[in-house]
Amino acid sequence: MVLARFLTLSCILLCSAAQNITSLKNALSAHGVSAIYPTDENFRTVSHAYNRRLSISPLAVVFPTSVVQVSTAVKAAAAQNLPVVARSGGHSALGNSVGGKNGAFVVDMSKLKAITVESSNSTARIETGNLLGDVALALNAKGRAMPHGTCPTVGIGGHSGYGGFGFTSRAWGLALDAVKSATVVLANGSIVIASANSNSDLFWAIRGASPSFGIVTSIEVQTFPAPSSTVAFEYVWDSLDIATASSAILAFQDFTTTNLPAAFGANLIFNKGSASGKVALTFLGAYYENPKALNTILAPYLSVLPKVASNKTALGTYIDSLYFLSDWIGTPFSNFSASPTLSFYSKSIMTPESVPMSVAAIEALVTYIATKGFSSNMDWFVLFELFGGTNSAINAVPLDATAFAKRDTLFTIQFFSHFNPTLPYPATGFTLVDGMVESVLANSPSNWNYGAYLNYIDDRLTNAVNLYHGSHYPRLQTIKAVLDPEDTFRFPVGVAGKKQAVVNAEIFQTPFGISQ
Ligand SMILES: Cc1cc2nc3c(=O)[nH]c(=O)nc-3n(C[C@H](O)[C@H](O)[C@H](O)COP(=O)(O)OP(=O)(O)OC[C@H]3O[C@@H](n4cnc5c(N)ncnc54)[C@H](O)[C@@H]3O)c2cc1C
Ligand SMILES: *[C@@H]1O[C@H](CO)[C@@H](O)[C@H](O)[C@H]1NC(C)=O
Ligand SMILES: *[C@@H]1O[C@H](CO)[C@@H](O)[C@H](O)[C@H]1NC(C)=O
Ligand SMILES: *[C@@H]1O[C@H](CO)[C@@H](O)[C@H](O)[C@H]1NC(C)=O
Ligand SMILES: *[C@@H]1O[C@H](CO)[C@@H](O)[C@H](O)[C@H]1NC(C)=O
Ligand SMILES: *[C@@H]1O[C@H](CO)[C@@H](O)[C@H](O)[C@H]1NC(C)=O
Repeated sequence: MVLARFLTLSCILLCSAAQNITSLKNALSAHGVSAIYPTDENFRTVSHAYNRRLSISPLAVVFPTSVVQVSTAVKAAAAQNLPVVARSGGHSALGNSVGGKNGAFVVDMSKLKAITVESSNSTARIETGNLLGDVALALNAKGRAMPHGTCPTVGIGGHSGYGGFGFTSRAWGLALDAVKSATVVLANGSIVIASANSNSDLFWAIRGASPSFGIVTSIEVQTFPAPSSTVAFEYVWDSLDIATASSAILAFQDFTTTNLPAAFGANLIFNKGSASGKVALTFLGAYYENPKALNTILAPYLSVLPKVASNKTALGTYIDSLYFLSDWIGTPFSNFSASPTLSFYSKSIMTPESVPMSVAAIEALVTYIATKGFSSNMDWFVLFELFGGTNSAINAVPLDATAFAKRDTLFTIQFFSHFNPTLPYPATGFTLVDGMVESVLANSPSNWNYGAYLNYIDDRLTNAVNLYHGSHYPRLQTIKAVLDPEDTFRFPVGVAGKKQAVVNAEIFQTPFGISQ
């Protein structure tokens, strides 16, 4: 019995892994789908993960030029039981757009770059080969905008599939909230429209978990008037002690419960300080209504903090605000043709608005980054993104309206540690980031209903399903079983489908098998 089970398991793993690559190549070339394979000279260039911590080798990377070619490619790969992933901007923290592990079939969307702005009903159709920089500039040229993050080289495909937070999100929601319909290639190659009244389960699932359900070739989004005058600001405190930095977070938490206007967006960013026991703090944000009101809005918060070491404000257009706000990332909007890569590990905590961080959790985190963070050989930042606060459009969306599972979030905190990309990523990078998160969790209620953000995807969580999907996971699995019955779209930390479920079931049964 044990042997029989072992053989069954091996066959599930190996039989389904048997692939006929000649047949795959023939199917692609017969339909003119351009493909690059490991034996091709430029394979490394087109297949490496943006996150240089990882070394992943896909089985092929294809560059479809039409939706029909995407469909052809998916069918050809599915016929060989290959895991299929899409790549938009390629910025996945786990390299999931090159498969997350070796042997995947990568559908690169970069040749699908159309953007059509529809003025009659304030929408735009955006193909998912576009980067956030492309989207912002094309919409702005027609006086329009949509919510999204500030890094211009992030792709709209991944970003809008898992969330999509930017400084306009308190006013307009996440990028996925702007999606009104999408064109999706399913695992069997069929090309379908997903919207409120067409394939509505799929429409629900792609707004929060799209990579596990299909390849979204374009999204139709609601657009908003590009704000005509904006003000962006950056205040820097280069050396705060632990008590002062802790009160800066606590006071910010209180500040978010005052009647903050929706058009106000802000982040707090902590960096390594000048000495042990110190941290640097940047308060970065923008206001998308009358710029003159900014000082009044900020005054109550700034009044409880020490004098700033430096400050900058920028008055200008909507695009000017994006230029200004993207500066700290190192890939400015003004020139995003080349995308510098990073070697990094990141985690996140989404703090519930209903139970904000305790004083003890805040102090433990600040103490950790001011001491362990200072002595670490790693570069790092801790980024508090203001998802919630009074008047936030993100939290106004009913929980079950989309698959995005965290509509009660005050801050999404990203813990990010990076290192010289030409060297192996050190183990201390993991220890440092784990320690940051642990300092918060060890000082929070054991039933604290926090979450984690899929756009900062992490494969080292023990309770990932709950943190990422909360109450939405059963529905996601039901939809996955119907639309992707063979688990074609599979990669680390995806919604588990048939292949993963079968393997798990066999493994779980093994102890019982032994006694038979
Ligand atoms: C420097 C930097 C700055 C960032 N800033 C922000 C920010 O301000 N706000 C924020 O919310 N996030 C931010 N992020 C996180 C970013 O939103 C995620 O990494 C996002 O998933 C990247 O999307 P992508 O298309 O570039 O990546 P990809 O790696 O191409 O895709 C990410 C995932 O989505 C899948 N996918 C891609 N395209 C499609 C498609 N067309 N259909 C279905 N699945 C698809 C991929 O297979 C992969 O699993 C930032 C990341 C970096 C590295
Ligand atoms: C693989 O497919 C090709 C063409 O489709 C076929 O000629 C060949 O016999 C197949 N190989 C195996 C091992 O099945
Ligand atoms: C917006 O208008 C375009 C062009 O008429 C149409 O194709 C699209 O379906 C409309 N979208 C919505 C959400 O009404
Ligand atoms: C910002 O800098 C200007 C001039 O450099 C200064 O006048 C102003 O007081 C500063 N603002 C704050 C809040 O410190
Ligand atoms: C844009 O960036 C690239 C790569 O860093 C550089 O070669 C180029 O000169 C820059 N262009 C402009 C206009 O700054
Ligand atoms: C493809 O899958 C969808 C969703 O399950 C189904 O509705 C459709 O009939 C399938 N198409 C083909 C050609 O099998």
